[in-house]
Amino acid sequence: MGNETLFNSGGSLNGTIRVPGDKSISHRSIMFGAISHGKTVIENFLFGEDCISTIDCFRKLGVDIEVGEQRIEVNGKGFEGLQEPTEILDVGNSGTTTRLMMGILASMPFHSVIIGDESIARRPMSRVTKPLISMGAKIDGRAEGDFTPISIRGGALQAIDYALPVGSAQVKSAILLAALQSEGKTVVREPAVTRDHTERMIRLFGGNVETNENIISIQGCQTLKGTHITVPGDISSAAFFLVGAAITKNSSIKLEHVGLNPTRTGIVDVLEMMGADFDIEYDTADEGTEPIGAITIRASDLKGTVIEGELIPRLIDEIPVIALLATQAEGTTIIRDAEELKVKETNRIDSVVNELKKMGADIEATPDGMIIRGKCGLKGAEVDSHGDHRIGMMLAIASLICQGNMELKGKEAIRVSYPQFFEHMNELTD
Ligand code: S3P
Repeated sequence: MGNETLFNSGGSLNGTIRVPGDKSISHRSIMFGAISHGKTVIENFLFGEDCISTIDCFRKLGVDIEVGEQRIEVNGKGFEGLQEPTEILDVGNSGTTTRLMMGILASMPFHSVIIGDESIARRPMSRVTKPLISMGAKIDGRAEGDFTPISIRGGALQAIDYALPVGSAQVKSAILLAALQSEGKTVVREPAVTRDHTERMIRLFGGNVETNENIISIQGCQTLKGTHITVPGDISSAAFFLVGAAITKNSSIKLEHVGLNPTRTGIVDVLEMMGADFDIEYDTADEGTEPIGAITIRASDLKGTVIEGELIPRLIDEIPVIALLATQAEGTTIIRDAEELKVKETNRIDSVVNELKKMGADIEATPDGMIIRGKCGLKGAEVDSHGDHRIGMMLAIASLICQGNMELKGKEAIRVSYPQFFEHMNELTD
């Protein structure tokens, strides 16, 4: 892990950028291209390490994927075109690759093994393996199938009616991908609505899926057809600069081509609740099935708020940077119902609280979230991403407002989702 010293810019963020493609949609575009018939062309794909892991895994499954500078072509031959891999499928740091790919492998009449890095080895997988086993797949792994390495021998699947114990788009998506190959109609019931990119993509590739609030129904034995996708900018990446501009004096930035799918815009709701000064222009040009637009945001006074309940799945990945935002708001911010943070790339309740405390924040961990008291001056410190991209980017943004130098350890983790992060930061602080 390399070290990077970040200096207090003492300045502001100004200018216009396009954040890179959405990570969730980039993963899915490769997977859906792989299981469909014919060519899929993908533009604005996120070349972050996680999505590159997905490409590597599907190549090992025999899928022809041509990577160009501007676009990717996936030459899909349907589920039946996937081949038994001769090598282990290494997902790196990517939970989305692991869980969604398991949904695809569950119906494949062959054997495969999934491993990942030390963070993946700590993340619970039984939330996916259990429903897939009940559909008929043979899956095993460390700790009775809860942790990688996971081995899968797929086969004929039966539909299920399944109530998700946790609101997780990854689990929902794994079941929907398995359901595409099952006998009968599968129903997934979510405790709260989670990101719906998989459902939108099934329709984009010519399949059928019905959504009725938090109940999703899908008929089995569907055949999908390759298509063209332009991946919207990732609102989860945009969130770092949205917060950066909101908390640094005299800032004004515009982020273009950002995905504004309502299942992902919890960060926009929070900015509104906290009194941020921003506006959104929706792009009406037809960009497929995901809404997009430009967000302009300026520095402003902020106030504390309560973030809980159904809002949590709509901003789960933004909580680290929302915690930073809250340190700069007058009053108390409470984040609750967010136990899921404990099983992300790191335990994000602990990593956010510990790192921001080092900088002098008034922040306290709770069993299901955190309490932050503002407004609080932050000071430079030696901080650590703990190998978690979103912790690394949150701390880099915190360096914009801290007094004194800050040293960030493990900045390379940021390559997982935002390889151009430091270039964009330099562009906006110039
Ligand atoms: C993702 C869903 C979320 C999110 C992750 C990506 C997806 O995880 O945290 O970064 O692409 O479906 P959960 O569904 O497990 O909450």
